[in-house]
Amino acid sequence: MPFTGSQFRDKYEIEPRTWYRNLHSVTEYIYFTRLIPGILVQIIFYKNGVEMIRSVIKYFLSVCLFGLGFGLVDYNSEIQPILDSSCISCHGNAGGLNLSSYNNLMNGGNSGDVIVPGDHENSILWQLIDAGEMPSAGGDLTSEQVGLIAQWIDEGALEVPVSSGCTDPNAYNCEDSMAGEYINEVGPIIYDYSCDGDPTHAGSENCNEGEICEGYYDPEATQDDGSCRYPQAPHGDEVVFGVEENGISVDWSAFDPPSTALEYLDSYHVQRCVGEGCTWIADFTPGDVNITTSLFDDFEGDGWEVGVEIKYAIAVKYLNNPYWGWAIGASYITPCNLGDLNGDGGYNVLDIVALANCVLANNCIDQENSCAGDMNGDGGYNVLDIVALANCVLADSCGG
Ligand code: HEC
Repeated sequence: MPFTGSQFRDKYEIEPRTWYRNLHSVTEYIYFTRLIPGILVQIIFYKNGVEMIRSVIKYFLSVCLFGLGFGLVDYNSEIQPILDSSCISCHGNAGGLNLSSYNNLMNGGNSGDVIVPGDHENSILWQLIDAGEMPSAGGDLTSEQVGLIAQWIDEGALEVPVSSGCTDPNAYNCEDSMAGEYINEVGPIIYDYSCDGDPTHAGSENCNEGEICEGYYDPEATQDDGSCRYPQAPHGDEVVFGVEENGISVDWSAFDPPSTALEYLDSYHVQRCVGEGCTWIADFTPGDVNITTSLFDDFEGDGWEVGVEIKYAIAVKYLNNPYWGWAIGASYITPCNLGDLNGDGGYNVLDIVALANCVLANNCIDQENSCAGDMNGDGGYNVLDIVALANCVLADSCGG
């Protein structure tokens, strides 16, 4: 049976459907597990997914916030005060070693540099305070103070700490992770790209406690290290379907990733899914490096079933993401034989009667072939649809 544009509902939806169930408020993204080596690893999960997810979020809250508390030693607020209170009474303005400021400290003393950045053990200053020789007149530093100075030296002995990491808040980030946006249930499987996610979930990162996961936005990073991972993928209004006789065109040129993410965009990968079966679209299969933002999905004559929903899952492979599944959006189209309410393949008064009846009974949505009744595509069923159907039956122009 040939298909023409009007036989399809030229409309898409992104609500979660039977096999794509997202437990959270933002439903557009789904995430699959990682590829280990070359195969999709799916860790099968049990009945009580919701309970698990809740406990993950609680667990995560504790470690993520704790993680943000870790910082690099700041010279002016942490080191200089120690020197001010214990050292500058002797190492002030007089000749020799002056410990009254960062620059003076780094200029060294009579015997040269007293700090070797990155190496506390070879820094004379540390050696003397660790041995208790300085301050020379009693009042030794506490072991915490000695340790802090060692840490500061090992971090590079900088006046302002430089911490490198992902500096883009649009990247995978703690906030969205805590909101549960990186945990999704697809069928029986929980996919979890959260920071410190539950290790029983597929794809869980298992970062060390309190650390920012690799590629996650690090609010304390002052220098971008090019590691950002991104979740953005085409979905919703960014995906436009066009129905043609022998296939469906899919266009996501309106997809607008954050500009920084764009720098890392490597390729698009697209699957057509009907029910639980998914097929990669030629040239958009993982391995292809395709950055075209549209495609024509040619069904080669075998067509699709009227009223059976098709899902297009569009994945974006960003360079730092472990694989394409880390950024994937879903859009749906339900091919529909508009006007053929009773599903007999024709358009006549019987269809008009069927539509009028269900409009009156206000139960069109429950009809098996309900999509056929929404003639004007406004999502509802009323007299306008009946008129449109009557007109095309009279003009013998339905379905064309
Ligand atoms: C009571 C005075 C006094 C205090 C307080 C004091 N120092 Fe000293 N420090 C000295 C004197 C005097 C020397 C030089 C003596 C020597 O070379 O043996 C010295 C030498 C040093 C040197 C070696 C300098 C060089 O160029 O060889 C370092 C490093 C040093 N002090 C660090 C410190 C630090 C750090 C503190 C504070 C935690 C401190 N000192 C507190 C009196 C003091």
